[in-house]
Amino acid sequence: MKIVTILGARPQFIKAGTVSREILRQCELGADIKEVIIHTGQHYDANMSDVFFEEMQIPKPDYFLGVGAKTHGSMTGQMIEKIEDVLLNEKPDWVLVYGDTNSTLAGAIAASKLHIKIAHVEAGLRSFNIRMPEEVNRILTDRISSILFCPTQAAVDNLKNEGINHWQNNAKVVLSGDVMQDGAFFYKNLAQQPQGFLIDDDYVLCTIHRAENTDDPKRLFAIFEALNQIAKNQQVVLPLHPRTKKIIQELQINTKNLTIINPVGYLNMVWLIHHSSLVMTDSGGLQKEAYFFAKPCITMRDETEWVELVEAGANKLVGADKAKILAGYQTMQMSLRNDSYDPNLYGGGEAAMKIIAELLR
Ligand code: UD1
Ligand code: UDP
Repeated sequence: MKIVTILGARPQFIKAGTVSREILRQCELGADIKEVIIHTGQHYDANMSDVFFEEMQIPKPDYFLGVGAKTHGSMTGQMIEKIEDVLLNEKPDWVLVYGDTNSTLAGAIAASKLHIKIAHVEAGLRSFNIRMPEEVNRILTDRISSILFCPTQAAVDNLKNEGINHWQNNAKVVLSGDVMQDGAFFYKNLAQQPQGFLIDDDYVLCTIHRAENTDDPKRLFAIFEALNQIAKNQQVVLPLHPRTKKIIQELQINTKNLTIINPVGYLNMVWLIHHSSLVMTDSGGLQKEAYFFAKPCITMRDETEWVELVEAGANKLVGADKAKILAGYQTMQMSLRNDSYDPNLYGGGEAAMKIIAELLR
């Protein structure tokens, strides 16, 4: 079986790394699987890309397309063209795509035009906010995929509600659980404290990069005003995404109370999550990782795809409203205790195994 894996953005390295490890394990057990990896180049800084391949021992990409830092249409279009060339050359049985980035959609479109079967990992997630580029990417990718690997029951239900049984592509829905949980469990024991700055025993871990926040000055100012206020009481450690860094500089947003650091590799990130008291973020992946490490999470978005976290009381949606963020900070600090944590909410850490077993079937 030949699989072409498409990746390009930070969260995809982390997800695909876990599945690649499972492919290698299956090969050692005698399975005949060849994985060819295409890196689109969507993320390209060393601390947004190379560090993950090195630290997580992800197989080196076979193809690097170098398509990054462009508008949505230009990026997606150029990726489709270059991915198509590779697929014509490699003729895989499957194209494996992850999540909801422009790299995901480009890979899916290129494969579908060549009638190559698509397997989508993290299928079925919905924010029901069609203005999000990620929502468009995931809906379209799901629609043309042959196997839809859902991380949660809510994702399965979304696909049923959209009428997947009536789609023309005989799509198969598999509740696989979440590959990020597999990764978090695996790398927990390899975590390393980041160096080069002072860190308190008690701190908030924060990340901000979503377009709906960075591209709206009103939202971004409100978020940073709230963070600055929180940082007067408790250290706020913020590994800063390059997109946010650029906009903060342009808008001259005050970050003086915050401990801003460069993006970190996954081993440092796992350490930071594990030792934090609270996570504040607009990231998709980090909301779940906070839960895997039994940390309460405040999500600075108006909606989330990970609705089960909100239902479990582990995650609070506060939008980008200063008063709501500060109120959320007060109420969430002590909210999630180890005894209310359910390790099976995301499948218990066997997602990669289920995904490869299903593809082999
Ligand atoms: C992308 C995904 C988003 C995901 C995020 C993960 C889409 C539509 N969005 O958003 O869903 O949550 O990745 O981090 O695919 N940049 C650099 N160096 C890099 C990468 C980016 O400087 O290595 C800067 C560039 O100015 C670039 C900007 O960040 O134009 C935005 O990058 P892009 O990949 O377009 O979107 P993200 O915000 O990273
Ligand atoms: N992450 C990381 N270093 C950082 C910030 C995030 O390794 O400096 C990890 C984080 O732990 C999670 C993934 O990157 O596993 C999430 O990626 P991101 O927030 O960029 O994207 P999203 O999940 O929102 O699509």
